[in-house]
Amino acid sequence: MAINSYPLELLAREHRAIRGAATNLRRIYQDGEDVSGALTFVRQLAENHFRAEERAWLPVLEASFRRRGSGCLSPARAVRAAHRTLRRLLEQAADNPAEIPFLCAILEDHAAQEDLLLFPLCAALLDEPEKDAIARRLGLADPVDMPPPPPGPGFRLRHAYDAPSPTDGWRVLVDRLWPRGLSREKAALATWAKNLAPSTELRRWFNHQPDRFAEFRRRYREELSDPALAGELDDLTNRALTGPVTLLFAAADAECNQAVVLQEVLEERRLSKEFLIRWDLCLDKATVPPS
Ligand SMILES: [Fe+2]
Ligand SMILES: [Fe+2]
Repeated sequence: MAINSYPLELLAREHRAIRGAATNLRRIYQDGEDVSGALTFVRQLAENHFRAEERAWLPVLEASFRRRGSGCLSPARAVRAAHRTLRRLLEQAADNPAEIPFLCAILEDHAAQEDLLLFPLCAALLDEPEKDAIARRLGLADPVDMPPPPPGPGFRLRHAYDAPSPTDGWRVLVDRLWPRGLSREKAALATWAKNLAPSTELRRWFNHQPDRFAEFRRRYREELSDPALAGELDDLTNRALTGPVTLLFAAADAECNQAVVLQEVLEERRLSKEFLIRWDLCLDKATVPPS
């Protein structure tokens, strides 16, 4: 992890959690179930994140714009305005559940816009001392001395043919077909999650064509939302809360393949759960999140 980009990465991780929670809320609403628990969770998650952005990070961005004498509207102001709108919608959603799909869509969109447009801008705009200042405000210990992250909880990707490493943790093959020529010993699998792979029909349609990847991702995510798969996704998610889980794939293209999409979906689930657990701990101890 690049030392000074950590605060932005932290916020990007929270965005993934927010998007995962919003997707979940929308599903619960569409299934006609009681949304109150999920709605409260999304509100807490979003509010905590908005506060982190507004108190720790946006002021630094605004100062940077002022110092450069930029005449244009600071993106930070646009972000604050978007937060105000989202807060109002989050508040109203309890009385007006019909607005939940709309609320979820703009919540997801806001997080995606920040990831795509704002973060690269900030990374390019801010100089090193400013990034250090953000890291300190976010309560990260001396960022200069930050050690590389140890193999911790979460989902990683590796090529099935690469030699296993002790840091892989739980090794899961996520292809539907066994990789050609790979022996069981060399694979050193903990499990083969065949059912989580894309359907044969979808795999054949995609056929490793990079220009079909965006549509493949959409269709595969849809397949993964099948309730019949929830148990298996949950098992892997729970395992990745406490240690590394490595998803193994055989495809030669390391960027446009199904394991990348599956990792995305699983990480969203894991981060949502992780935040939920943290919030439970907060509530248990009757403390409020740091201001
Ligand atoms: Fe935001
Ligand atoms: Fe954000």
